[in-house]
Amino acid sequence: MLHDSRLDDSNLVRAARQQPVTHTPVWFMRQAGRSLPEYRRVREGIPMLESCRRPELVAEITLQPVRRHGVDAAIFFSDIVVPLAAVGVDLDIKPGVGPVVAEPFRTRADLDRLPELTPEHVSYVTEAVQILTRELGDTPLIGFAGAPFTLASYLVEGGPSKNHEHTKALMYGDPQLWHDLCARLAQISGAFLRVQASAGASAVQLFDSWVGALPRADYERFVQEHSAAALAAVDDLSVPKIHFGVGTSELLPAMGAAGADVVGVDFRISLTDALARLGGRYSVQGNLDPALLFAPWEALEAKVREIVEQGRQAPGHIFNLGHGVLPETDPDVLTRVTALVHELSAR
Ligand code: CP3
Repeated sequence: MLHDSRLDDSNLVRAARQQPVTHTPVWFMRQAGRSLPEYRRVREGIPMLESCRRPELVAEITLQPVRRHGVDAAIFFSDIVVPLAAVGVDLDIKPGVGPVVAEPFRTRADLDRLPELTPEHVSYVTEAVQILTRELGDTPLIGFAGAPFTLASYLVEGGPSKNHEHTKALMYGDPQLWHDLCARLAQISGAFLRVQASAGASAVQLFDSWVGALPRADYERFVQEHSAAALAAVDDLSVPKIHFGVGTSELLPAMGAAGADVVGVDFRISLTDALARLGGRYSVQGNLDPALLFAPWEALEAKVREIVEQGRQAPGHIFNLGHGVLPETDPDVLTRVTALVHELSAR
């Protein structure tokens, strides 16, 4: 549709496509959010889900970290459960807790509460992306969605979970229902990515935040095909695809094989070890421990240097954290890290 607005020459897109860059592109997961006073100000009195449905507010929040830090990409302000709420799932995002589902999904009849997503369900997303691609100029916008496993975990557990016991019980107890649920979630997730890419996002990221709870054999048997289907929904739109999860050291090749151009790496494995496991086939994104943003500058600087150095061995490297920015982070440290990566990697 709006192919012209896609920023094929940006460092982010070029790094994702294993092309030469002028410096290593940087962005931070959860860069838009509570670490920023300007975010807390505009969100005052507006519930999270409601804020995601106001295109002007979404655009403002998405732009805030770009203005402040000079990062190389914007991440669309929304949440992984927004498309679920859009198709009618009764859920809320509770501050300090996360998504909470009123009635957990456990039976085949529950599939009736999960209709397919159409672009009309999320017209406010199309509108916000259109505003953003105008206002961002040369800075690419990353669209995103939650992956089927992580979305299923919220639906089946009813909220955040440490052990994912109900999810695994369903997976093993009724594999057919599990696959049907994930196939539906892959449609929703893929359609949500497609809405953003069609409206002008230059890249997409699929968040499978909690899939590190699975061993590789279970990932391949129960998850991979569904994440692949979600990513395949944007195949014809020529946007690079980033695939990220937490605690996924053992899953990296399988996550790449699901159809990613870029594999997101968390901080539990070095980029060098991740690259060895990935066999040079993918660009990588990562992987500074977000907790190290609280360490003395000298220690943090040494760690950033190490990651930039290791990233030089990759076919393409996008600098990021190994997981999201913590709410108490000093935003000035993020600005400083962005400048440091740019300086260290300038060619
Ligand atoms: O800069 C950005 O990345 C902003 C866009 C964004 C949000 N959520 C906004 C948000 C993105 C990409 C997400 C994805 C998301 N949401 C994930 C995947 C990323 C990850 O962290 O692994 C997950 C697992 C969720 C589910 C979710 N939503 C959680 C765990 C929470 C935090 C709960 C809390 O309050 O600590 C949310 C709420 C949420 N999503 C907030 C924001 C800014 C906080 C709500 C607020 O500010 O009131």
